[in-house]
Amino acid sequence: MSGELEGRVALVTGAGQGVGAAISDALEREGATVVRTDIKGTDVTLDVRDEDAVGRVVADIVAEHGKLDIAVPNAGVAFVKPLVEVSLAEWRELMAVNLDGVFVTAREAAKVMAPAGKGAIVNVASVTGLRSAPLIGAYGASKHGVVGLTKTLGAELRDVGVRVNCVCPGFADTEMVSSHAQELTDAIGAPVHDVINARQGRLGTVEEIANTVLFLVSDRASFSTSNAYVMDGGLYGALV
Ligand SMILES: NC(=O)c1ccc[n+]([C@@H]2O[C@H](COP(=O)([O-])OP(=O)(O)OC[C@H]3O[C@@H](n4cnc5c(N)ncnc54)[C@H](O)[C@@H]3O)[C@@H](O)[C@H]2O)c1
Repeated sequence: MSGELEGRVALVTGAGQGVGAAISDALEREGATVVRTDIKGTDVTLDVRDEDAVGRVVADIVAEHGKLDIAVPNAGVAFVKPLVEVSLAEWRELMAVNLDGVFVTAREAAKVMAPAGKGAIVNVASVTGLRSAPLIGAYGASKHGVVGLTKTLGAELRDVGVRVNCVCPGFADTEMVSSHAQELTDAIGAPVHDVINARQGRLGTVEEIANTVLFLVSDRASFSTSNAYVMDGGLYGALV
């Protein structure tokens, strides 16, 4: 541990397990004070679909710590279904978490970071936000949205000193993947882990994703904003 985030205050959504928990652990190891939020399993309960609640949590952080330096809108959900079978209700339910939730969290964080003239936001997108994602098309569309809002928010905030980037992981070893593995296997007619191994070698670990986020929130990434960082074992680059 180098303590390079000593004195910084961070907000992470969806921090109860998986990627969000690993990001929170990594930020804490580097000395940051981390407010872990989730719809379940954390001290601070926060449903990112609740716009007012997101605003209240950010206001509480500023009231208690005097500032917010780092925000990681990470909460996300997924379901397996070809796009032509997705109902508008299912689509909206997913977008409410994956796109609206990231937008509102990043916006509320930016509102307090901009007047302070500093801050780093890292949205958790996905490699499916950069390429097609058959069978998880609603999820992929939401992640394309996250990449898009990252680019523009970063551009809008660049000159006030707030950096906004996103991380685009490939398949990682979390409940999000394990809970849909059988469905994906049935849908593609081959063991999904064989397909993943063929495309990216193995599942990524949550620590590997957290390391990318750690870099992006740190001063080592001082010249980076509006960017999407792929961390995927070669999945994005593979033609087949
Ligand atoms: N696991 C992967 O392969 C992978 C790949 C690329 C991107 N991602 C992204 O990483 C992020 C974390 O996913 P994960 O793999 O850790 O999944 P996960 O299912 O293990 O964890 C997601 C967390 O989000 C929380 N959550 C769900 N809905 C919420 C809501 N409305 N408000 C607040 N919290 C809510 C859950 O309670 C859970 O703790 C997601 O945005 C996901 O899309 C994951």
